[in-house]
Amino acid sequence: MNGSFRMSAPCLLGLEGLAAQELREIGAADVAAQDGRVFFSGDAEMLARANLWSRYAERIQIFLASFEARTFDELFEGTKALPWENWIGKTDRFPVKGHTLSSALRSVPDCQSIIKKAIVERLREKYRLSWFEETGALFQVQFLLRKDTVSLMIDTSGAGLHKRGYRANANEAPIKETLAAAMANLSRLRRDANMIDPFCGSGTILIESALYALNIAPGLRRKFTCEDWRAIDPSVFKAERERARGLIRRDTPFHAQGYDIDPAAIELARANAEKAGVADKIGVEKRDIRDFSEAGEYGCVICNPPYGERLLDLQAARELYRAMGNAFEKKRGWNYTVISHDADFETFFGRPADRRRKLYNGNLPCQVYMYFKY
Ligand SMILES: C[S@@+](CC[C@H](N)C(=O)[O-])C[C@H]1O[C@@H](n2cnc3c(N)ncnc32)[C@H](O)[C@@H]1O
Repeated sequence: MNGSFRMSAPCLLGLEGLAAQELREIGAADVAAQDGRVFFSGDAEMLARANLWSRYAERIQIFLASFEARTFDELFEGTKALPWENWIGKTDRFPVKGHTLSSALRSVPDCQSIIKKAIVERLREKYRLSWFEETGALFQVQFLLRKDTVSLMIDTSGAGLHKRGYRANANEAPIKETLAAAMANLSRLRRDANMIDPFCGSGTILIESALYALNIAPGLRRKFTCEDWRAIDPSVFKAERERARGLIRRDTPFHAQGYDIDPAAIELARANAEKAGVADKIGVEKRDIRDFSEAGEYGCVICNPPYGERLLDLQAARELYRAMGNAFEKKRGWNYTVISHDADFETFFGRPADRRRKLYNGNLPCQVYMYFKY
């Protein structure tokens, strides 16, 4: 694929700004953030780089177009008018999936089949074929119909970008990797920092912080769907992976320490850190939050403490917030970043946050509470 094209990167609501910033930093052009996604332009190198380096986006898509579609006719004609043949070859697979929201066309299966028919019709005319065997590379077509405007995309990532390839195993309530990475960014993690997660569970925040501090591209250990596409020369991903390896800073004095009350979680965190290739930068140990203390001149604490869904659990969780309030001293050189779904977190922690940020963990509204004043 030669030349520049438009791409989009869906992300968790509230992470658009961070996702846009990182895309700018890796060289994307015309970056624009909007309601849970970021638009940008670039060539095949940029497509590979965005997949490899996006810490906060959920996936990278080729963005075909947006247009108004209040009727099936409008949806069909608008879809058929797009140059699908630029991407999808004669034998490739092109299943369709998507969502509709606040639109006249409400039925997802109907929209799916109209879009599929329109693409088939377009490709039939272009390739002079009456039948598509669909045995080749995967071009997952994705649509989003919001307020009667449809956006049409082709997914390039495959598994969501939060799947970095290191977490085969998780405990019960792991935080999403993209969100954990965002917390490291929001806490202004220094590359030479001591960071601590006193509720480390399967180790996601420790590992994402280490990847960030060592400048390791989060997608370096996985594959992406578009690597099978004829339009993307294999040399592109090879070169971008080599470039990413060259940018790793193994010699940074960063160290992450994880604690958890559950010995099984400690084992899991250790195994995941090993898989992520950052075990030498991470220590883990069984310890109750009530025995917490931070050592060293400066550093940061980043965590997601348990959240009680049921009343009894909620009371227990709030007891832990109290213990955290006692344990996390206002100490020069240290800052504390906590994510919680509990709207009353600050009351139980005992201090209002110096800064807050609203985020969505999937559909679950939560807040990141940041304490950095002493
Ligand atoms: C929401 S999970 C953290 C998930 C983690 N961020 C991950 O990605 O896997 C909360 C963790 O707090 C731990 N925990 C519960 N009570 C604790 C206590 N008193 N002291 C330390 N850890 C505790 C649980 O074992 C659990 O692993």
